[in-house]
Amino acid sequence: MCQGHSVYTRQASEKDLEAIARVLVDTWRSTFRGLLSDDFLDGMSYEHQRERHARTMAGPRTAYFAAVDSRTDEVIGFANGGPNRHSDYPYSGELYAIYIREEYQRRGIGKSLFCALARRLVETGFSSMLVWVLVDNPNRRFYERIGGVPVGERPIKLGPATVTEAALVWSDLMSTLGSCCTFGSSDVAWKADPRS
Ligand SMILES: CC(C)(COP(=O)(O)OP(=O)(O)OC[C@H]1O[C@@H](n2cnc3c(N)ncnc32)[C@H](O)[C@@H]1OP(=O)(O)O)[C@@H](O)C(=O)NCCC(=O)NCCS
Repeated sequence: MCQGHSVYTRQASEKDLEAIARVLVDTWRSTFRGLLSDDFLDGMSYEHQRERHARTMAGPRTAYFAAVDSRTDEVIGFANGGPNRHSDYPYSGELYAIYIREEYQRRGIGKSLFCALARRLVETGFSSMLVWVLVDNPNRRFYERIGGVPVGERPIKLGPATVTEAALVWSDLMSTLGSCCTFGSSDVAWKADPRS
């Protein structure tokens, strides 16, 4: 990657569903290989994820943001969220997913997507937000770095395996925006690749 080339965040639409599905499946495979079974990861399908996200995107009060490489116009990451789907946790909003292609990670893009989504949730009436993350996912530190607080765990079935997920929350999203998100959701978010 060239030094100085930029990635920006924007609202995602139906036109991005194919790219979102590819980012999701490819990033699951690069992140969870060794943590989840090869059979499960290799059995994931772009088409199934495209359909799943088409349904989610059509849901009420759902927000989607994409991170786009300005050089190629390729969607290289996304985040989505909306109403909390877990009634036993009293938080109004939920971050459903955030995924960035491996070669673009750790350059501020995740934080930019997180902030765009959190801002949209606040604007649409959500005051708090929950996220579920596999307890063995090393990227759990990302959420803690931007103020997520662990509040519980649950077992979930992924293919044939049962794994444990942790819930992290931001109980006051407005104050998270003030403390962690000091740039606008449409601002260019980039850092030069430290390897270039
Ligand atoms: C997790 C993910 C979204 C984070 O996005 P990112 O662009 O890599 O992270 P950022 O560069 O925006 O990092 C923001 C902060 O979190 C920290 N951080 C990010 N990932 C981290 C990690 N794995 N361990 C420790 N700190 C981490 C960064 O150092 C940075 O700290 P700073 O503000 O002090 O500089 C991205 O790495 C990703 O998609 N990973 C694979 C998929 C995944 O695990 N998704 C979450 C599923 S629940």
